[in-house]
This record gives sequence, C-alpha cells and structure tokens, in this order.
Amino acid sequence: MHPAYILSGPNLNLLGTREPDVYGTQSLADIEALCAARLREQGIEAITRQSNHEGALVDAVQEAGREGCGIIINAGAYSHTSIALLDAVQAVNVPVIEVHLSNIFKRDEFRHHSYVSLGADGVICGLGATGYICAADALANMLGR
Ligand code: DQA
Repeated sequence: MHPAYILSGPNLNLLGTREPDVYGTQSLADIEALCAARLREQGIEAITRQSNHEGALVDAVQEAGREGCGIIINAGAYSHTSIALLDAVQAVNVPVIEVHLSNIFKRDEFRHHSYVSLGADGVICGLGATGYICAADALANMLGR
C-alpha cells in the first residue's frame, strides 16, 4: 500500500498559536501525528506536507496522485480561492478527503464555498483535530481497510 498524504495549506504551520479560540491549541505536528497514528493502526503510512504556496500544494497533490493511496487535505484559505487546487484534486485517481478544523459555514460568508470540495470525495469541518481522525478512518474505509 502506498502512503497517504496529509496536506496542509497556508498559515496552518502556525497552528497552536494562531487564533487558538478558532483552531485549537494543538500544533500542526500534533495533529499530523494523531492522524498518522490512526492511519498506521489501519496499516497505512502517512507523508505530511505543509506549504504557504499554492503551486507547491498543487505539486504535492500531483505527487500524492502518483505515489500515494489517498489524500487528506486542509488547503486553508486556498480552499476558497484556488481553481488550480481543484483541478489538481480532480486530476488524481486516489480518494480525497477535505478537512477544516473550524466550521466554515458558521464563519464569514467567503468561507462558505470551497473549490476543493467540488473535487473531494468527502468533507469534514468543525470538529477540530477530531476531524483528522474521522478523515483517517474514512480514508482507510475507502481503501478497504
Ligand atoms: C481552515 C478554514 C479556512 O477558512 C481558513 O482560511 C484556514 C483554516 C480550517 O481548518 O478551519 O486557514 O481551513
């Protein structure tokens, strides 16, 4: 089984200190470790990537499509703006689960729409770090684990 890719977009490297009332106090490394451990329990290794740059995220989605078994992606603000990321997600032949820590539908109207959602197989939002555990379980299930 190829590894699953856990992809994180802009400003998620600041988790832990960034608006903790909205995003919680766990760091990105903490959340990635939780998610990776849950995947590992189901026999799936994880590769993690974070970038603040749209093109680097497109590259990471393409790499996951070539070398991975599935994608868990929180594209941060690029979720709401990036047709390039949508195209990348639609171009891969592996399952894609989109995650947002916060409930984007309870927030500013510009966060209510996600381009990434149009290409994702499943979307989880508002559950904080627990959402990543749900995503790991959902991905494992989709992969027949
Ligand atoms: C986010 C929600 C986005 O609207 C925001 O731009 C983020 C984080 C979340 O995980 O809740 O950077 O994707």
